[in-house]
Amino acid sequence: MANLVLNNLVKAYGKTEILHGINLDVDDGEFVVFVGPSGCGKSTTLRLIAGLEEITSGAIEIGGREVNNLEPKERDIAMVFQNYAIYPHMSVKKNIAFGLRSSKASKAEKEKRIQEVAGILDMVDLLERKPDQLSGGQRQRVAIGRAMVRDPAVFLFDEPLSNLDAKLRTQMRLEIKKLHQRVGNTIIFVTHDQVEAMTMADRIVIMKDGYIQQVGTPDDVYNRPANTFVATFIGAPSMNMIDGEIVEGGVSVGSEAVLSVPIEGHEKGMVTVGIRPDDLKPDIGTPVLKGTVTVCEPLGPETLLYVETGQGEVIAKADGRTAPQVGDSVQLGVDLSTVHLFDHKTGVALTS
Ligand SMILES: Nc1ncnc2c1ncn2[C@@H]1O[C@H](COP(=O)(O)OP(=O)(O)OP(=O)(O)O)[C@@H](O)[C@H]1O
Ligand SMILES: [Mg+2]
Repeated sequence: MANLVLNNLVKAYGKTEILHGINLDVDDGEFVVFVGPSGCGKSTTLRLIAGLEEITSGAIEIGGREVNNLEPKERDIAMVFQNYAIYPHMSVKKNIAFGLRSSKASKAEKEKRIQEVAGILDMVDLLERKPDQLSGGQRQRVAIGRAMVRDPAVFLFDEPLSNLDAKLRTQMRLEIKKLHQRVGNTIIFVTHDQVEAMTMADRIVIMKDGYIQQVGTPDDVYNRPANTFVATFIGAPSMNMIDGEIVEGGVSVGSEAVLSVPIEGHEKGMVTVGIRPDDLKPDIGTPVLKGTVTVCEPLGPETLLYVETGQGEVIAKADGRTAPQVGDSVQLGVDLSTVHLFDHKTGVALTS
């Protein structure tokens, strides 16, 4: 087991710089999830850590040792990919054993380790099967087993669940989390799925265009997003962003209301007001916006309302049973403690 440090990591292909100086400290045993739009550099970062690509500048340390110039197999890491290539002609056992091919352990030690891993992954009875006799989730477990059997200091997972159907994903998500609680290895996990990120991570790293936007606990990135990118990327449906103006006593949003939120230390002028759909509801709290319901999406216990207002379209949430109908006029309100403010030009969060 080991910590991991990325120190001003830069990656360029020819003249095109893809990663522009990534800094990150991952603690020993920490579960860190990378999220970000397609092409932002998540896989590239993982491939640099694994040693599958050469870094352009900067440094990578694993367990206090710089690994920049070490071969992948000398780095004490194991990587599980989206297209977990397990060998179709080999049994589950042989596939798992493949992870030990360069190990110097004795045959008996290897056998013991394979049994241990099969036990942890609940696959003892499946060891003699071939991959085509397994479900998608079981096949994914074989790929994880092959990585686990080496007991690496750091696990790297690149979207390992994205080929699975929704139900299996949920199941595997739970299994990987339990696995981490049991074995406690350091894990870097890349996903497109926010729910995966929020539920599994000790900390989430949000990337965009080769830059880290924020590193924080799920609570940090959801409740204290560093900027409008993080605010709209985390949480579904996305946070509503409304133009406002800092005036005497608070923030004015159109003609409807002056929200008496703390504005000390901020200059008068335009501001971006962020309110999550969960926090924007008809007829509660402080009135913010008036508008007309254009679409209702009933979700059972609650209903999403798309509301056309003088400030543009916003999404609000209503109680499932008493939700307004399409065409209704609504007054949307908010608990002022849930309102976020961002710099109108830079999008950086304003803290009061
Ligand atoms: N070998 C390469 N040569 C040139 N550019 C590359 C190469 N590999 C990746 N890139 C570029 O680097 C950028 C980052 O790619 P990367 O695969 O890391 O993104 P990602 O965040 O993993 O995206 P996704 O979510 O789609 O998997 C992309 O713009 C990609 O086109
Ligand atoms: Mg990728």
